[in-house]
Amino acid sequence: MQADLIIKNIRQLVTCRRSKPGPVTGGDLNHLEIIENGAVASFDGKIVAVGTTSDVERRIELAYSGEVIDATDQVVTPGLVDAHTHPVFAATREDEFEMRNLGKSYMEIAEAGGGIRNSVRKLREAPAEKLFDNAIRYLDLMLQHGTTTIEAKSGYGLSTESEIKQLEVIRKLAENHAVDIVPTFLGAHEIPDEYREDREGYIRLLIDEMIPEVVKGKLAVFSDIFCEKNVFEIEDSERIQTAARDHGLKLKFHADEIVGIGGAELAARLGAVSADHLDVISDNGIAEMAKSGTIGVLLPGTVHFLDLKARPPARKMIEAGVPISLATDFNPGSSATPSLQIIMNFGAAMLKMTAAEIINCVTINSACALLMDDMVGSIEVGKQADFVVWSADNYRQLPYFYGINLADQVIKKGKPVS
Ligand code: NIG
Ligand code: FE
Repeated sequence: MQADLIIKNIRQLVTCRRSKPGPVTGGDLNHLEIIENGAVASFDGKIVAVGTTSDVERRIELAYSGEVIDATDQVVTPGLVDAHTHPVFAATREDEFEMRNLGKSYMEIAEAGGGIRNSVRKLREAPAEKLFDNAIRYLDLMLQHGTTTIEAKSGYGLSTESEIKQLEVIRKLAENHAVDIVPTFLGAHEIPDEYREDREGYIRLLIDEMIPEVVKGKLAVFSDIFCEKNVFEIEDSERIQTAARDHGLKLKFHADEIVGIGGAELAARLGAVSADHLDVISDNGIAEMAKSGTIGVLLPGTVHFLDLKARPPARKMIEAGVPISLATDFNPGSSATPSLQIIMNFGAAMLKMTAAEIINCVTINSACALLMDDMVGSIEVGKQADFVVWSADNYRQLPYFYGINLADQVIKKGKPVS
């Protein structure tokens, strides 16, 4: 069999292969397939062989110009998948970070016109080229830290024109950067300044104009909403997301982040692919998500950055059979890290998850949360050749070390990219 890349002599090849389709749940989440002295080969960006080094070497014929990576004493995993990011913005918000540390809360800053609306004012003024250049820097950092596929949300435009500008920047990023990007429309991220006295007017704009335009331009796969007290309450969220679903968009929710208003239950009822945050999810919400199979995308970076007291009940959710994943929530206001590596550490130290659970969450389960699990998220023949070669003695060191970059080499579609 022909190959143009082989990674061999891998001390631990972690495939993240699952035993059945769909996200890995319950006790299975604590299981990883590990091949000692493993190898993986690819051709033209797709995986063609996985096994022990001697087995793979016997089966493949490496092209004359083919790449050989010797991963002696290293660990290899699938490229990481970040299922929740807001990477396109005009300016950082370190001033608000300091205000919070001096005593103001995230919601107080938002209600005073800061927060998301601060980012909206700046994005509306920024030329698309500047937004693109800013985001490229962050995508480079993601890749350097092992992330090869992301979801990217709009939500800092909040007008038809500016949301489309942001989604077009996301499309251009996808065309020009090695990282695979799944676009999400988040027009329901906040009520913009000009509609503060006319919430109904903004909801109508979303339903009657923005959603149809986004769908017409094929600018998004998902529709997301900030379902939160004093932002979009349950009834508004149901109207907006039902309209999005009727237009063919798949659903995601920012749910039960700060005040529990039943966002998880609504996401489950509407058949959402994921409900994200869930710091204050109720027992009923957990039961409903387990029933619907809605994936809980947990965002411990935000809990850390906002110093929130409630943590997503990861263990309870795993035990109830809710599929879960972990993501960065990278954005300028509530989680300023583009690296999934520190999120893996938070998964362990803050959410009390095992290394195996965490690695399944940031690979195969995140791929499921993006409906990309037929292409990425595990090392299997036929899937995209996206890998991370880690400077680690064993897979348990991945969530253990933090604040340093353990990714030694990152391979996207069979090519070393970092
Ligand atoms: O996922 N919760 C709402 N949205 C973002 C924050 C965006 C911002 O503060 O700019 C989040 O945390
Ligand atoms: Fe978010």
